[in-house]
Amino acid sequence: MPIIQPARPPARRRAGRRAVARRATVVAAAAAVVIGALAAPAAAATLRELGTAAGKDVGFALDPGRLSETQYRQIADAEFSLVVAENAMKWDATEATRGQFTFGQGDQVASYAAAGGKKLYGHTLVWHSQLPGWVAGLSASDMQSAMVNHVTQVAKHFAGKTFAWDVVNEAFAENGARRAESPFQQKLGDGYIETAFRAARAADPSARLCYNDYNIEGVNAKSDAVYAMVRDFKARGVPIDCVGLQSHFIVGQVPSSLQTNMNRFAALGVDVRVTELDIRMSTPSDQAKLTQQAADYRKVFEVCNAVARCQGVTIWGITDTYSWVPNTFPGQGAALVWDDSYRAKPAYAAIQAAFGGVTPTPTPTTPQPTPTTPQPTPTTPSPTTPPPAGACQVTWTANGWNTGFTANVTVKNTSSTAISGWTLRFAFPSGQTVTQAWSSTVTQSGAQVTVTNAPWNGSIAPGASQVFGFNGAHSGTNAAPTAFTLNGAACTTA
Ligand code: G3I
Repeated sequence: MPIIQPARPPARRRAGRRAVARRATVVAAAAAVVIGALAAPAAAATLRELGTAAGKDVGFALDPGRLSETQYRQIADAEFSLVVAENAMKWDATEATRGQFTFGQGDQVASYAAAGGKKLYGHTLVWHSQLPGWVAGLSASDMQSAMVNHVTQVAKHFAGKTFAWDVVNEAFAENGARRAESPFQQKLGDGYIETAFRAARAADPSARLCYNDYNIEGVNAKSDAVYAMVRDFKARGVPIDCVGLQSHFIVGQVPSSLQTNMNRFAALGVDVRVTELDIRMSTPSDQAKLTQQAADYRKVFEVCNAVARCQGVTIWGITDTYSWVPNTFPGQGAALVWDDSYRAKPAYAAIQAAFGGVTPTPTPTTPQPTPTTPQPTPTTPSPTTPPPAGACQVTWTANGWNTGFTANVTVKNTSSTAISGWTLRFAFPSGQTVTQAWSSTVTQSGAQVTVTNAPWNGSIAPGASQVFGFNGAHSGTNAAPTAFTLNGAACTTA
């Protein structure tokens, strides 16, 4: 009976890393790994585990105000090794009034990173956007001292917590000229960038100092200009350690010169990093767009994996619900890896595949519980509070391709009784097999599938839901299961 292990919670991170390092050998594509109904167990791996095994950061942009949402928090905790504040460390958040520094939200981000053992990436010290109005009104000399003071105070405050900073953000125009609408450019001229980097180095000598911009992912006039600046900085000893390629892409338009471009920056002696990845499409999404998006996500991660100085990839958020894209590009969106209902899109499995996926571990004739972490089995589920019959609802969503699919399953407790530990059972109608699961332990015997909660999502309050998912294989037909039981009681389907 195949057993598909759950993704591990953060507290067991180190053991998980070692395990993943052992088992994350290359396969053609995780989504295409097929194991027969009686074949080897496959181990689930989070993006964090796979990235760590590959020596790459997998990051996300955090809005600390969303951490109280269970699903947001679960994904944030489990899937990422790096955190960047989406907005909380910007100038308008940290010094809205001159000389009055407010670090409340930024500190929340830093605390979250520290508590979960995640790296903290600072974003951003000097940027023409989200800049309080008082800055643009200053004289040149006053602006210079205000900028140096801002860089100094913010970098010092987070010193020892942030391992790197986007020191200057988006200083160049598309044609490679300096960005004319920046008040810093207008008042201080080209030299403000160097001044900011020197101030950052003085404030936090340990932090990696990065220049960050969009539309510099491929080789073009804008990236040429950034390249020339970095080369000049390195030649003159101006402190710069890394270049961030934001990577706000459109489906089907990942630049073909991405790897060439990363390599040429790396050859200057700086690290590179994908800092703000999202891949938008016209909405609503459909299967073809999601499939292309998955291929695009995979491409970006594969390129980073192929470039030694690429430190990792940060995704600019978790769920499409909170993405910046629809506000800025009306009619476009669906740019992230989890949809509006926190269901993993095909991009998730594609990223796993970019890391080489996970090969099945050797087949034991009977499931082998490990000494330290006994596996729940279908016959002895963890203690449960059975819901009354019909008091659960299952929502099944699957995205399929050729002979593979990704399924996301939401289990809702529609009763008035809290559930503590759950086991969901169903049968595949057309011979599908589960190859890799997350947020659950899945066992399969023939068509019969048994799903048991992961250690961190066993509780379902009345009216609340938990989500799990898996990759699977099929042979051309991928009909959804029609009947589910939760802790032995029949569920309705949505
Ligand atoms: O906090 C206020 C809130 O008080 C107010 O009620 C609300 C009304 O609109 O606005 C809130 O501020 C918003 C802020 O995000 C926080 O949610 C701003 O309007 C909104 O413009 C701002 O958008 C951010 C955008 O940067 C600003 O340029 C996005 O969240 C953020 O994802 C985006 O991130 C940038 C990177 O920093 C740099 N690279 C490009 C990237 C995408 O634009």
